[in-house]
Amino acid sequence: MAAISWDRKDLLGLETLSSGEIEGILDAAAPFADNPRSRGKALSGRLVAFFFSEPSTRTRSSFEAAAKRLGADVLGLSAAGSSAAKGETLLDSLRNLEAVGAEYLVVRQELSGALEPLASKLKASLLNAGDGCHEHPTQALLDVLTLRRKKGRIKGLRVVIVGDILHSRVARSNIHALTALGARVTVCGPSALIPAGIERLGARVSHDLNAALAGADAVNVLRQQLERQNRNLIASLPDYAGRYGLSPERLAGHKDLLILHPGPVNRGVELDSACADGPQSAILEQVANGVAVRMAVFSLLASWRARHAR
Ligand code: CP
Repeated sequence: MAAISWDRKDLLGLETLSSGEIEGILDAAAPFADNPRSRGKALSGRLVAFFFSEPSTRTRSSFEAAAKRLGADVLGLSAAGSSAAKGETLLDSLRNLEAVGAEYLVVRQELSGALEPLASKLKASLLNAGDGCHEHPTQALLDVLTLRRKKGRIKGLRVVIVGDILHSRVARSNIHALTALGARVTVCGPSALIPAGIERLGARVSHDLNAALAGADAVNVLRQQLERQNRNLIASLPDYAGRYGLSPERLAGHKDLLILHPGPVNRGVELDSACADGPQSAILEQVANGVAVRMAVFSLLASWRARHAR
């Protein structure tokens, strides 16, 4: 693994990471991405527990694949099938998983920022697998790794993030990572889906996707998070698709534009199938790189734990 000075017990978000730490994770992930069947021993004999209170296909499966490739035992709970459904707090749930022997807790839950206050109360390493609308750090890391591998660099790239920015933890984590590494980020969508003050994170704002795509190197397409929208924020999905969906017509003239999407894709709304499955799409490479990034994160946290003899 590449040398990096990693001094954190947990990975809760990217906002507080330095550019050196982010690059260090990407560098550590690169050999795993080069050799997708590679294995390691960083988690040999260690227990990784998953506690998810929101659905997941990609994050859950790739974290689990990463942990197993590094030699861990894994156990998983969905909050709905756990004693959280009987009123147990998140902290109590995690403390009990720790008591079972888990040294790594991978958590997805719906409350933005709920993990930070818990981390210092746990000996286990806490990994944020998505907290409400706040952060999804490993998703952004795999997005940036995919960009770096496809474009050869991050510094100076122009990246458009289009969609439901208001409710997107993926957008926030991407803005933190991309701006830290010197990319120029534009967020695009209808005004009701762009949070006030997003410019303070270093992103430009556009409400015109055709204008935003002019000169862009990559577009990260986000879905409408209807499960988080408690009122009508768009006129209709067909209207949204016409204004902000990526279609072959809209893609014409952008032959070098890389298409990213964190998934799940709502085909025909934010992304036409011809674009999702076409030669400019890196969507499944993102998923594959997710295993590499999560192996790198586990390895770095394991190195911290070894140094601190936990
Ligand atoms: N990108 C992402 O978080 O996908 P899942 O919800 O399937 O994990």
